[in-house]
Amino acid sequence: MATYNVVTIGDEILREKAVLVRRFDARLHNMLDAMAETMYEFDGVGLAAPQIGISKQIVVIDVGEGLWELINPKIVEKSGNVLGLEGCLSVPEKQGYVYRAQKILVRAQNRYGEPFEFEAENYFARACQHEIDHLNGVLYVDKLAHPTEQELAEMDEE
Ligand code: NI
Repeated sequence: MATYNVVTIGDEILREKAVLVRRFDARLHNMLDAMAETMYEFDGVGLAAPQIGISKQIVVIDVGEGLWELINPKIVEKSGNVLGLEGCLSVPEKQGYVYRAQKILVRAQNRYGEPFEFEAENYFARACQHEIDHLNGVLYVDKLAHPTEQELAEMDEE
């Protein structure tokens, strides 16, 4: 199956607000399949369309519990604030600490345009927030936390 090249930091497209998807057609389905394939090939846990040079509101996520496809996703509720380590296929060979909501409610559409909602917590919630940020031109490096020893110790306990 086809895979995409991943665009890296410095490319303008990563800073654009991605466009809403309006056509839920075979072209979108092929793109979703190839995005998932690309994510797995590069051992990522998520991939947003701007990362393959396409400025559309499309995300794939798999944190090890199955594939999620999110079209036009929006976070409608969030709670909690937790520190965690993140990386990004568009920021190769780096990692950094970021605070994210611990629990979120997401509203999105599936590949057929049908709306759905789901709750996400912890690492899955983190991945969703990271990928949805991509659709707004935001990278995790914009949000880097500089945790104290105390904060890092508390993180390990979770
Ligand atoms: Ni990323």
